[in-house]
Amino acid sequence: MSKTRVLTGITTSGTPHLGNYVGAIRPAIAASHAPGAESFYFLADYHALVKVAEPARVQRSTLEIAAAWLACGLDPAKVWFYRQSDIPEIPELTWLLTCVAGKGLLNRAHAYKAAVDRNRAENLDDDAGITAGLFMYPVLMAADILLFNANKVPVGRDQVQHIEMARDFGQRFNHLYGEHFVLPEAVIEEQVATLPGLDGRKMSKSYDNTIPLFAPRAELKKLIAGIVTDSRAPGEAKDTEGSALFQLYQAFASKQETDAFAQAFANGIGWGDAKAKLFERIDAEVAPLREKYEALMAKPGDIESLLRDGAARLRKQYATPMLIRLREAVGLRDLSTTAFAGSKSAAKKDATLPVFKQYREADGKFHFKLVHGERMLLQSAGFDSPRDAGQRIAAIKAGHYDASDPQVLRADGIDEDDVQAALVAIAESEADKP
Ligand code: TRP
Repeated sequence: MSKTRVLTGITTSGTPHLGNYVGAIRPAIAASHAPGAESFYFLADYHALVKVAEPARVQRSTLEIAAAWLACGLDPAKVWFYRQSDIPEIPELTWLLTCVAGKGLLNRAHAYKAAVDRNRAENLDDDAGITAGLFMYPVLMAADILLFNANKVPVGRDQVQHIEMARDFGQRFNHLYGEHFVLPEAVIEEQVATLPGLDGRKMSKSYDNTIPLFAPRAELKKLIAGIVTDSRAPGEAKDTEGSALFQLYQAFASKQETDAFAQAFANGIGWGDAKAKLFERIDAEVAPLREKYEALMAKPGDIESLLRDGAARLRKQYATPMLIRLREAVGLRDLSTTAFAGSKSAAKKDATLPVFKQYREADGKFHFKLVHGERMLLQSAGFDSPRDAGQRIAAIKAGHYDASDPQVLRADGIDEDDVQAALVAIAESEADKP
């Protein structure tokens, strides 16, 4: 049986913090120890360029994150450990995927949409300050994942949409060019996937509320002392619900420890004491890792060679052969060896497009459904005439699909994005027609 491939990346735009550790590094490393897993860990430095235009920071962050993963128990002899920019097949695949990625789908990416919304809130042009890099971010990420046919991708909740997009692009490519890609699944650690930061919001560099993973002991203590709490006095019972302090504790503690901590909250533990307990709990886990981290950071040249070696082996084993197959599949071929295929591919392309089908039921009513291959996406209620049904189809094609329309329902297991992707595909194919 082939191994499950688990792949994850961290954007090299900052200093590793506890949120990265709990949400990504720790679960990914745990998964790598599971028998039957083949793990891929990489430093997403191309992604960093989308957010950061400070070369020294990208470099520093790449080193810090590499050292952090190694310190946390990653064994480069047992897993693939590499830097994205050492694999030229990734940007190459990005282009191939760009050519099948629906622009309409990318328009709905959360990060891009949020940037547009901010512009609108400030009465700016929709596209003000938005780079094509931000817009294309999900395609680059899809290339990271699909290149290695990863089965599982441990990510934070905010990244789930990107995995769904990777599936969409992969599926689209497979439809057009044959089965080349495995469709990946996101894996979220339900309990602690997002860690709260100092101010109670999600721990994130963009909120400036992080606790660096390898902050020295004294700094860690000071930062923890600054976590927001309510103003209840010692002796008053405290809520665990919504308490950043409690959630942080839970992310590091066993079930028993967490239960005991909840009991202490109910018994009115003072915030100062609760913070001291949290500090000790986190430090107990982090202190031995911190020591390793400091030793690694002292030898950046060793990390550089280790990363290069990982990328070289990975390219040889997977990336280079995969791109050879993909280039062949899309028609970037050696001219002397391939016969001219005529317009066969155009016919194939049409066969895989989603289509609306109209039909009449035994009750005499006129229905339609939207199907893609074997899969049914939408099904309508009965209309009195074929003309009514046809007009509704035309309206949907013209962009007036309404997900809450009781006459046009999504089929079981189909989500809104599937429907939108199909509609975009239809719109694009109609636009292509002369
Ligand atoms: N976008 C991810 C993040 O910001 C990082 C990332 C890039 C990634 N490529 C990936 C994660 C591929 C998983 C798989 O967290």
